[in-house]
Amino acid sequence: MTNQHRQKKLLSQLKDGALVIIATNPEQTRNGDVHYPFRPHSDFWYLTGFTEPESVAVFSREGYTIFLREKDQKRQIWDGERLGVKSALEVLKADYAYSIDALKTQLPQLIKNATTVYYDFKPCKLDDDIMECLATTQTQSLGEYLHEMRLIKDDNEIALMQKAADISVETHQLAMQETAPKLFEYEIASIFDGNFRKYNAEHAYTPIVAGGKNACVLHYIQNNKVLNEGELLLIDAGCEVEGYASDITRTFPINGIFSGAQQQIYQLVLDAQLAAIAAIKPGVAITTPHNIATEIIQQGLIDLGILTKNGDVKQFYMHGTGHWLGMDVHDVGCYQQGKQDREYEIGMVTTVEPGIYIRKSDKINPIYWDIGVRIEDNILVIKGGNRVLTQALEKEIDDIEKIMETQ
Ligand code: GLY
Ligand code: MN
Ligand code: MN
Repeated sequence: MTNQHRQKKLLSQLKDGALVIIATNPEQTRNGDVHYPFRPHSDFWYLTGFTEPESVAVFSREGYTIFLREKDQKRQIWDGERLGVKSALEVLKADYAYSIDALKTQLPQLIKNATTVYYDFKPCKLDDDIMECLATTQTQSLGEYLHEMRLIKDDNEIALMQKAADISVETHQLAMQETAPKLFEYEIASIFDGNFRKYNAEHAYTPIVAGGKNACVLHYIQNNKVLNEGELLLIDAGCEVEGYASDITRTFPINGIFSGAQQQIYQLVLDAQLAAIAAIKPGVAITTPHNIATEIIQQGLIDLGILTKNGDVKQFYMHGTGHWLGMDVHDVGCYQQGKQDREYEIGMVTTVEPGIYIRKSDKINPIYWDIGVRIEDNILVIKGGNRVLTQALEKEIDDIEKIMETQ
């Protein structure tokens, strides 16, 4: 679907006389005069395809108006080309284009002609300006319409997500082949930096490269410790291609061979993940994979003597089994419809990512201490079933040990 189709489709769901206002992200300062690379807001990018900062798009059945930075020869010497107001009509297929400096004078005119204004507030400078223009206007949330559209991916979006998945798969394979004791987590992390950039892709999120007990810290991003012989390495890393994310986790032995205890825990997570994936198809409740995975992990931990019959599995498996994936790694779209769990539909993409994390405890056999395992794949819902976009990446124990032999 082109941006224009998306705009039309969105407007067709809104009330007559509707006006949609949507601003992109502000640029973020890292420190001093240093900026983070700019990444547009996903809603704005989805509807406009425009990737410059300081921009506001306004849609109604009367037309598409874009406010953007004017060309500025001095600023362009420092920051690079800008599209500019004149070219915006042709390139963005806008009906009207104004300088962002005209927002406060032009926007009230557009608002005046509307019966309902749809706007989602974000705390930023542009938002302050828009709010000023909206001071006496009741607004409605856009998210429930726009995010439902974003939740169902079309063929172009799926192709981009497959490309992101393929690059991430290849990079995880390289990392498995390079991993060895005495290396540092950052040396393995650098493989992701390099290989993603090689394809002009970027990290979809800060990667987790966690050796040994660091894998039990769910949001470990320091990635700066040494990799020890006999321990596992958990890597959660995925790239973004033209705004579309992949999100993959693999866990494997640093020396290339799983120990007995590591195998037991790993196989349990893998069994849970495979069973959860197998259940995904149109019409199935989206809570089903989590219920299946939790049950398998709970029973497995009881069988291994790690969890007591009355114990809480959340002690070892404390996160959900999946989330929507798309332009945002934790993508938009409701998980419930009213009080009902929603069902999978063709074109949705979800992760499936069960895990087990065992910290030191005198109640647990020490052979299991500091083992943290997560396995995560990206699943597209298709007619009658699903397609695993990240299927090519090894996860059976034999296959992992085999690819690691080629170190
Ligand atoms: N990488 C983020 C997540 O798995 O949810
Ligand atoms: Mn995930
Ligand atoms: Mn992940």
